[in-house]
Amino acid sequence: MTEQRKKLIQVQDLTVKFGSRRHSFTAVDNVSFHIYQGETFGLVGESGSGKTTIGRSIIRIHPTAGGKILFDGKQINGPIPRQLDQEVTRRIQMIFQDPMSSLNERAKVDYIVSEGLHAGHHGLTAAQRREKVAKALSDVGLLPEFASRFPHEFSGGQRQRIGIARALIMEPDFIIADEPISALDVSIRAQVLNLLSRLQKERGLTYLFIAHDLSVVRFICDRIAVIHKGKLVELAESEELFARPLHPYTRALLSAIPQPDPIAERKKTLLVYDPACHDYTPDNPPAWQEAFPGHYVLASQKELDAWQKLS
Ligand SMILES: Nc1ncnc2c1ncn2[C@@H]1O[C@H](COP(=O)(O)OP(=O)(O)OP(=O)(O)O)[C@@H](O)[C@H]1O
Ligand SMILES: [Mg+2]
Repeated sequence: MTEQRKKLIQVQDLTVKFGSRRHSFTAVDNVSFHIYQGETFGLVGESGSGKTTIGRSIIRIHPTAGGKILFDGKQINGPIPRQLDQEVTRRIQMIFQDPMSSLNERAKVDYIVSEGLHAGHHGLTAAQRREKVAKALSDVGLLPEFASRFPHEFSGGQRQRIGIARALIMEPDFIIADEPISALDVSIRAQVLNLLSRLQKERGLTYLFIAHDLSVVRFICDRIAVIHKGKLVELAESEELFARPLHPYTRALLSAIPQPDPIAERKKTLLVYDPACHDYTPDNPPAWQEAFPGHYVLASQKELDAWQKLS
């Protein structure tokens, strides 16, 4: 008997548009996926594909044009009761891409880390708040005395830790990590990844981990979704996706991963994805389908038949 896993986040046919009604641009087009509690779910795609927009729609910064977002079984997009809004504001936190620009330069670390507490948790005394800040800083490996300093006094890795402390202080269940290491030096990327993974184990956190290349997400994500120009093109467990990539865009992303062997690296051909390679017609349209158990792909019936035969 298989155990029913709880879906903490459910995104159903999500569409997000920008611009005016007359000149609108669809940044996210009919995207569906769910994230199980305790899971690390990767969302991967090139710049401008709509990854951050999906994250920002989940935390209710961007209004949605269509579809539903459910958190812990309750719909959280569109107009929602104030109490639920406050609950979502606390339980879902986001860590941002660029720690050099996402921290308020004029505020001290103490204020930056505790900012979220001012809105929700009423009744904390100044001393209790300071204690929470000290605890959050030490949880991410920073000294409590850093609270009285300004962001410019810190390195990129330390600043990203401040961003993580700011999320943790809210005691969230779900964290959206939007390319949390891409702006960091290679040498400190592993430290930040290890920190995120330790925190997940200790607190049972659920992550949506956004990245633009597949190499980063391979070892930390349970399942990965690949997005291209606002549409999901493939979704599978990490190992399955690496072993049996189906969509030509996923294959192109995989071919871009550097290989450790310099000879193999020099010989390899970079695949370039050409959207014109599909044979889509009104009789043979693309659809989101399950190619193998738990492995979904955007494909026409003809493509699906061919890809299933090949793998
Ligand atoms: N506030 C906005 N107003 C208008 N267009 C926007 C806005 N935010 C995003 N877009 C557009 O929506 C599309 C998706 O942007 P988004 O930031 O979600 O991409 P991304 O996948 O996160 O890219 P990156 O890897 O560069 O962070 C892009 O074409 C972008 O220009
Ligand atoms: Mg982004």
